[in-house]
Amino acid sequence: MPKTATPRKTPTKNPKADKEICDSTWCEIRTSPIHGRGLFAIRDIPEGMQIIEYVGEKITKAESNRRGWAQFEKSQKTGEAGVYLFTLNKRHDIDGDVPWNAARLINHSCDPNCEAQIIRGHIWILALREIKKGEELFFNYGFDLECYEDHPCGCGSTRCVGFIAGEDYWKELKKILKKKKAKAEGKKKKKKDKKKRKKKD
Ligand SMILES: C[S@@+](CC[C@H](N)C(=O)[O-])C[C@H]1O[C@@H](n2cnc3c(N)ncnc32)[C@H](O)[C@@H]1O
Ligand SMILES: [Zn+2]
Repeated sequence: MPKTATPRKTPTKNPKADKEICDSTWCEIRTSPIHGRGLFAIRDIPEGMQIIEYVGEKITKAESNRRGWAQFEKSQKTGEAGVYLFTLNKRHDIDGDVPWNAARLINHSCDPNCEAQIIRGHIWILALREIKKGEELFFNYGFDLECYEDHPCGCGSTRCVGFIAGEDYWKELKKILKKKKAKAEGKKKKKKDKKKRKKKD
């Protein structure tokens, strides 16, 4: 059972607010060694704690689909690949791309210390284990393998699979990467052999 968070200040859900706000009493925004900015524990966090809510705009699946494609097209042009659409239920998603949603800054890890859970219609980031003061918070983004090459992972954990992907896809991903490696090695060997033959002639 998740532990309920300590009282929080009411999030500033003002769409015009352009200031980053982290209203959780457990973490703050800092520069991350993994990517851009991230969230970091400002005190020891017990396992199961509801750390921060993933807030944003509640939108229909149709609107979410439209925004998803717009984000994808933008990422193809600019190289920016921020994805902030979160499944809430069968009919609605949350678009977390708003400045008052500090949880959107949480980076991905293949060995995360947090997970996202839907609790009574709200998306919460929960501690998967005890998290020490100063640790960066991570959850697994759970991406599928479509366009996996666009999302290399730099989490640096010993479990890192090299790309941002949900654990359910790791087996398949590892197979794909093994095949790719074998193909690349085969090509390299062919090139080397060709060079050797040329030298002999
Ligand atoms: C929702 S943002 C996370 C916040 C981000 N650090 C920032 O400052 O905006 C997601 C993006 O962060 C980057 N990112 C998150 N986790 C990463 C990781 N483990 N390795 C590489 N890039 C990561 C990717 O570019 C990803 O598309
Ligand atoms: Zn990784």
